Parts: sequence; structure tokens; C-alpha cells
Amino acid sequence: MNVYFLKLLQQERGGSQKLLLLFAPRPKACGMEVKMEKINIKDKLNTFSEYWSPKIVGDINETYVKLAKLKGEFVWHMHENEDEMFMVIKGRMVIKLRTEEIILNEGEIFIIPRGIEHMPVAEEEVHVMLFEPKTTLNTGNVKNEKTVEILEKI
Ligand code: NI
Repeated sequence: MNVYFLKLLQQERGGSQKLLLLFAPRPKACGMEVKMEKINIKDKLNTFSEYWSPKIVGDINETYVKLAKLKGEFVWHMHENEDEMFMVIKGRMVIKLRTEEIILNEGEIFIIPRGIEHMPVAEEEVHVMLFEPKTTLNTGNVKNEKTVEILEKI
């Protein structure tokens, strides 16, 4: 908890502290205790090995920057309210759509508009960076064994 939050809590002692926390400006907004560190993608990718389990490495406004390792077939799903961006860091993958298949190579980006059904497939291990709103669930409108509800920050 940063200093700004503490001050708010002291002023409103006895009040609803939970509500205060919800409405308190984020540290970024008040410019205090902002953690500014560069992120080495390779180093972060070396910290985990599981597939289909996106890890949070940063956040921009209301969007998370995630890294994931993929191998095999995922599941057909869509995100009703969120666009999703895949960027291939290493390897090659296919994003299956109902109308076509997008082959994504290293250094390429594909944005799946909200509401469009898709299924990522990686014949060999692929490393991707994802940009998604914080509300995005990896399996979208589907819940199964590949669903990860709480993402780890690395
Ligand atoms: Ni998706």
C-alpha cells in the first residue's frame, strides 16, 4: 500500500475503507511510487513453462500485457466485449477463424475483433505476447479445463 492510500484511510477512519480503496486514484494517477522497470521478455518467458496459462508482465491503462506459451489446440471461443491481440515472439501459430486460418509467424501481430470466434493452434511450442483488457478471460465465453481465472504476475 502506498503513502497516498494510507493518508486517505486515516482521514476517513471509521468510514468504509474498502470503498475508499476502490475509488482512490491509482498510484500512477497521482505520480507516487510508480514502479518503472524495463521488462526483458526472454527473461520473463524463462520463468514459466506451462502452456495456455498467460502471465501478466505489465499493464497499460486498462489493458494487460501478457506472455504465454502455447502448444497444441486451444478451444473455440469468442470474447463478446473485448478485442484481443496476439503477437508472436517465437515460433509459428495458426489462429483458426470460422471463415479462414491466419498463419502467424515470429514478429507478426493479429487482432481478433470482439465477437469473432477463434481457436489458436500451435503445432510446435510458440511464445506470444497478448494485449487484452483486464476483464478478458482466456477462454472467453467458454469455461473448461483451460480456463485461467486468476492470472499470475511475473
Ligand atoms: Ni481469445
